[in-house]
Amino acid sequence: MPTFIFCLLFTAVAGFVDYGDVLPESYAVGSGPTLDADSPYSDSHIALSSDKPYLTLDFATEVAGFPFFEVVSLSAPTQIEVKYAEDFTALDNPYSDGPWTFSNGLSNTFRTETFNLTEPGRFESYFVQGGQRWMTARLLTSTTVSFAEIGFRSTAEHVATDSTIGQFSSSNSVYDRIWDLGARVVQVACVDAGNAPSTWDITPDGAFIRGQQTAQSARGTAYGNYTLSFSTKIVKGGTGWRVASGTTPTGAVVYLTSNYPEETTFANTNRTLLPPNTLVFNFGHSIVNQSTLVTGWNQYFPLNTSVREGEWYNISTTITSKGYRVNIHGVQEVLVPIFEAEYLSAASASSFSSSPPHTGTWGFGPWNGQEAYVKNVTVTLQNGTVAYTNNMTSNSTLAEYGVAPLDASVCLDGAKRDRLVWIGDFYHTTKVIASSTDRMDYALGSIEYAFALQKQEPPFEGFAPISASLGSRPEYRDAFASNYAALLDYQDLFMGAIGDYFWRTNDLSGLAKYWPNIKQLAEARIAYIDPYSGLVAGDDVFYFLGPVNGSAVTVLLSYGLQRLIPLAEALNDTAAAECYNKTATALNAAVNRELWNPALGTYSLSLAAPSNYSLTSIAWTLLSGAANSTQAASMLEILPSLRLGVGYKTSSSDVESPTTQLSPNILGMLLEGLFIAQRDLGVQDTAVAKTLLDEFWSQMVTQDEYYSGASWEYLYPDGSPGIDLFTSLAHPWGAAPTYVLPEYVLGVTATSPGFRTWQFRPNLGALGLTEAKGTVPTPFGVIEAGWEVVDGGKGAIVTVKGPKGTSGRVVLGEEGVGECEGRKQRGGYVDLDGEKERTVRLSGLSL
Ligand SMILES: *[C@@H]1O[C@H](CO)[C@@H](O)[C@H](O)[C@H]1NC(C)=O
Ligand SMILES: *[C@@H]1O[C@H](CO)[C@@H](O)[C@H](O)[C@H]1NC(C)=O
Ligand SMILES: *[C@@H]1O[C@H](CO)[C@@H](O)[C@H](O)[C@H]1NC(C)=O
Ligand SMILES: *[C@@H]1O[C@H](CO)[C@@H](O)[C@H](O)[C@H]1NC(C)=O
Ligand SMILES: *[C@@H]1O[C@H](CO)[C@@H](O)[C@H](O)[C@H]1NC(C)=O
Ligand SMILES: *[C@@H]1O[C@H](CO)[C@@H](O)[C@H](O)[C@H]1NC(C)=O
Ligand SMILES: *[C@@H]1O[C@H](CO)[C@@H](O)[C@H](O)[C@H]1NC(C)=O
Ligand SMILES: *[C@@H]1O[C@H](CO)[C@@H](O)[C@H](O)[C@H]1NC(C)=O
Ligand SMILES: *[C@@H]1O[C@H](CO)[C@@H](O)[C@H](O)[C@H]1NC(C)=O
Ligand SMILES: *[C@@H]1O[C@H](CO)[C@@H](O)[C@H](O)[C@H]1NC(C)=O
Ligand SMILES: *[C@@H]1O[C@H](CO)[C@@H](O)[C@H](O)[C@H]1NC(C)=O
Ligand SMILES: *[C@@H]1O[C@H](CO)[C@@H](O)[C@H](O)[C@H]1NC(C)=O
Repeated sequence: MPTFIFCLLFTAVAGFVDYGDVLPESYAVGSGPTLDADSPYSDSHIALSSDKPYLTLDFATEVAGFPFFEVVSLSAPTQIEVKYAEDFTALDNPYSDGPWTFSNGLSNTFRTETFNLTEPGRFESYFVQGGQRWMTARLLTSTTVSFAEIGFRSTAEHVATDSTIGQFSSSNSVYDRIWDLGARVVQVACVDAGNAPSTWDITPDGAFIRGQQTAQSARGTAYGNYTLSFSTKIVKGGTGWRVASGTTPTGAVVYLTSNYPEETTFANTNRTLLPPNTLVFNFGHSIVNQSTLVTGWNQYFPLNTSVREGEWYNISTTITSKGYRVNIHGVQEVLVPIFEAEYLSAASASSFSSSPPHTGTWGFGPWNGQEAYVKNVTVTLQNGTVAYTNNMTSNSTLAEYGVAPLDASVCLDGAKRDRLVWIGDFYHTTKVIASSTDRMDYALGSIEYAFALQKQEPPFEGFAPISASLGSRPEYRDAFASNYAALLDYQDLFMGAIGDYFWRTNDLSGLAKYWPNIKQLAEARIAYIDPYSGLVAGDDVFYFLGPVNGSAVTVLLSYGLQRLIPLAEALNDTAAAECYNKTATALNAAVNRELWNPALGTYSLSLAAPSNYSLTSIAWTLLSGAANSTQAASMLEILPSLRLGVGYKTSSSDVESPTTQLSPNILGMLLEGLFIAQRDLGVQDTAVAKTLLDEFWSQMVTQDEYYSGASWEYLYPDGSPGIDLFTSLAHPWGAAPTYVLPEYVLGVTATSPGFRTWQFRPNLGALGLTEAKGTVPTPFGVIEAGWEVVDGGKGAIVTVKGPKGTSGRVVLGEEGVGECEGRKQRGGYVDLDGEKERTVRLSGLSL
């Protein structure tokens, strides 16, 4: 039964955490976007004029914040069209790399923005831009303007990757730049409480909403065939709303444009996309396609009245069997035929979600550049019952519509997209933070955020939401039922991450209060073990990493439970520790019994697909300890059969096409598994691990047009971003090398919670390196460690210094002779206490 009540957790309004302004590294002025924008950005003024109307600003790596322009002088009021992009190639697209669709994300869902600069001084956007390397400004008016400063009021930490607490460097500069990707990505993809304010303003005139993806009421999910009525006052350009929508914005969306008065209409208003005095309808995510994320087709209904700005209009939309009947102020009625909605719902055209045509909630949000008030919302059912009223003048409206200010420090799946707290991605994120910025407050904050939304009744009782959105609140969790029902293995990755947070920090006081929640989650997952096969299963459920009764999902649960054992032990919960141990041991045994396939030389994908196999099952049988050394060696031999382009495809059954997505998330799990095979199972072959760094991750650092300085979400086989302009180029799940390199190539690991004891097993000569060094954050301070191959491979120098309060052990291989402070060491180890630096010289090696 539920033991905690969280309703009071999220009441305080968190303050802004000030990270200062972040400025570009370089820029170019010309007539279009410039990849080699190489004028160093300095204090000198930058001017735009009709012969040089286009400014490209290069921030060198991903940054986040409120865009601002400090205007020194202008010849007359000036409009500029600004674009933000992670990927340089997006700058040629009218919508840059947007618009974002799945959530409002407490940020600007559009990646183009028009500014009206009227006088000298600072102009700052109302909206946060979640992540970009590039910003451009195009002059729209025949004026001249000069800027003293342009940049972002940073909402994220912006520490250089050579100055984070954790560090790694080696004799291979490409590997060092790959390591940097993680140290950068967790800065932009984690957000402090206070640094994502609401994107709606509540005023006495109702909600004032600037152009952004619609935000939906959490109170309307159960209704259908209703009439939505509201009053709206257009301030600029138009207004927008949805009916029959998911809480995630999909379904019927309507924009109503104004008569576009000259004085308030931006010069770049697209009158083809949004003609004046028109009702524009779409059934899907948006009224434009976002590269690979397609939406329905637009339907246009020109009005025969002039729609004026600054006046209130009463609008109603009724969902009927024939279509959506829109009444505008009693002067005109438009019937949008139901055909598009029914056709697209039946075809379920989108790979992400589709909505039924008659049911679902309502939402509000004007299009890009538009602004409008919304007030007096009423929803009336077919039988005349008034099901809902909201005058939109109370701040509680923000939480209901999922746009309440962020009040927890959390990590997102991506800086710009989806801006959701995905608990599966959090598996990598926790480890990346622990190896680089050491901002473990984001890790604990994310755990708290997810448990505040833990489901307290069946179905899926005990589960955390797989992708909580930023602006919601626990009292509305029932509106997000689908957030518990999918990707069941994300629960297991989340358990692994919690265990890892504890292992790195020993933060018992932070976690103890969630122990009942953690146990409830573990029990909920253990209930999915099939009593006959002993494998992880479930009826009508979907896992991300493999099918039910399969190898990957079974050993992933084993891994999650094993990671919780040290926490259970620290809390003296011996019964839980024993239960997790016994269950994990049984899961590993079941996979070996049911799914090891000697003919294939690897584990079968599942009972139902015995001759298929996958990267995930290879990775997780290594990470969970299920595979022994012969199995590991045999699995390594099969990996080349999954080779595709610059990387490896996820499953043997995946089609091989130029648009097959290669996943750094999964290859990151594999990368660690391969080093576990080397370190713990004696499989010395690191050829595949080397291809992952040399040929796969290197793509993220060698292509200037795509480089963001942060890790990517997917890659295509040719090495370009893997879902076109939809791809997040700042996705922590792609940053595994940031923790794998220090832990396995340098060789520093904790051997008890919080690094009270630790070991340094220098992986001498790993991946052909001649040198590796780094600092590893611990709650006591950093461990500094390094190794260097000398004498042409016959010797090595190992140095290490640990923080006070810890004991470390340098573990040396069997080979060679060691000498430390005049004493000979053979095939053994050197113990360290306190802060003294030690150096061990090894000779007689053959590296
Ligand atoms: C720009 O701002 C000026 C001054 O506030 C205003 O008069 C003008 O209408 C604005 N232009 C647009 C297109 O909004
Ligand atoms: C304007 O909208 C039309 C129709 O959606 C689109 O084809 C065109 O590319 C847009 N133009 C610009 C400059 O955004
Ligand atoms: C999006 O693309 C699909 C498929 O090409 C097309 O049918 C649809 O009309 C497009 N939607 C918009 C709004 O352009
Ligand atoms: C305006 O359009 C409606 C139908 O949408 C029509 O019934 C009405 O006659 C039109 N009015 C004028 C003035 O054209
Ligand atoms: C709404 O009406 C449609 C037919 O017009 C019907 O199929 C559907 O069941 C109704 N839904 C609700 C929730 O009343
Ligand atoms: C909103 O409703 C209130 C109360 O019924 C009414 O006084 C007010 O005029 C309405 N406002 C608008 C803009 O319709
Ligand atoms: C109208 O329908 C709703 C939902 O089906 C129901 O709860 C309510 O009792 C009905 N009201 C009347 C007056 O029939
Ligand atoms: C708006 O609604 C709230 C809650 O129902 C109520 O307390 C408040 O008085 C209303 N405000 C106005 C201006 O009608
Ligand atoms: C809503 O919250 C904002 C920001 O905290 C505050 O300034 C404003 O006064 C609040 N409005 C109401 C009606 O409570
Ligand atoms: C667990 O037990 C040990 C030994 O009895 C005790 O020192 C420690 O405080 C206990 N830990 C917790 C979290 O209760
Ligand atoms: C379970 O506990 C035993 C005895 O302490 C230990 O050897 C084993 O490694 C544990 N197994 C797992 C899966 O944690
Ligand atoms: C590993 O497991 C396989 C399959 O159960 C078995 O055949 C093999 O002997 C084991 N190897 C070692 C080294 O234990």
